[in-house]
Amino acid sequence: MTNLSDTAQQLVAQGKGILAADESFSTADKRLVEYGIEPSEEMRRQFRDMLLGTPGLEQYLSGVILYEETLDQKADSGVPFPELLSSEHIFPGIKVDLGLDEFPDSPEETITKGLLGLPERLATYRDTYGARFTKWRAAIRIEGDRLPTSGMLVENAKRLASYAYEVQKAGMVPMVEPEVLLEGAHSRLRAREVVETTLHVLFDALTDQNVDLSGVILKTSMVLSGSKSGRTDTPEEVAEDTLAVLLAAVPKEVPGIVFLSGGQGPDQATANLAAISARAKELNAPWPLTFSYARALQEEALSIWKGKEENQEQARAVFIERLKKVQAALL
Ligand code: G3H
Repeated sequence: MTNLSDTAQQLVAQGKGILAADESFSTADKRLVEYGIEPSEEMRRQFRDMLLGTPGLEQYLSGVILYEETLDQKADSGVPFPELLSSEHIFPGIKVDLGLDEFPDSPEETITKGLLGLPERLATYRDTYGARFTKWRAAIRIEGDRLPTSGMLVENAKRLASYAYEVQKAGMVPMVEPEVLLEGAHSRLRAREVVETTLHVLFDALTDQNVDLSGVILKTSMVLSGSKSGRTDTPEEVAEDTLAVLLAAVPKEVPGIVFLSGGQGPDQATANLAAISARAKELNAPWPLTFSYARALQEEALSIWKGKEENQEQARAVFIERLKKVQAALL
């Protein structure tokens, strides 16, 4: 077993998942404002501390994806966040893409940037902060039969593959995330088709680029009807279609698949994960499946915390409650 596949397997160890705490400045500030908190660098630090300083996280989390700013910030205890996580045997990960640009060939779509200077940044994340894995996210929008375009899918997949290659060369596990967005009026059937095509294009690109599939984690969307479709799928429908797509498109060598929550509420993301997990066991799926949620894990805690120290303990208790529910969904 290579070190990479060993790390990847530990990230998807039974009953554990990954917290995505890698919101960029603008997304983190947007979250704070939603809960009536005045955004600033210090409030973003306190937001991370409310989550990452929660005692007992190691029972639920194998890894946390961080944003660059957080690498240099310290928990209230004075310990830098990456060090705090490592001391709890939680792998620190880092989002390494630099966000989305308009895709010139189809301006309603986006292309993810960040390859320039990536090897140098990776060496710093590994050597200075002890990062063990990384994330790169592409965003794929569905609009009828018109979007996504195949040009955008191919270009994003090529960049994901180049990124994954560089990350493995630097000795870390690349998490590849082609997020098919929930926003839109599309049907679940259309989402199923798009997720499947996206994954086929992605794995073709990873193979062309000689990425070692046994040292990669796939982060994917569940197959769901669009948020403006007027339809709420049952967890069984989501599980049926999600597993069908994964079995059709994801090679067996991939050591694990994690799901993003994508705007589903905490209960919906938990119920869907439970049904997916059960269906995967029924079908004897070849890879462990787990969560890598941001919003679905954070929302309840944030709404109690509201940026106030006196609410921290209760917010952390609610965060742990949600982690327990999500863990129970896996088991
Ligand atoms: O890139 C997206 C995040 O890693 C997951 O966020 O669970 O709120 O969709 P989400």
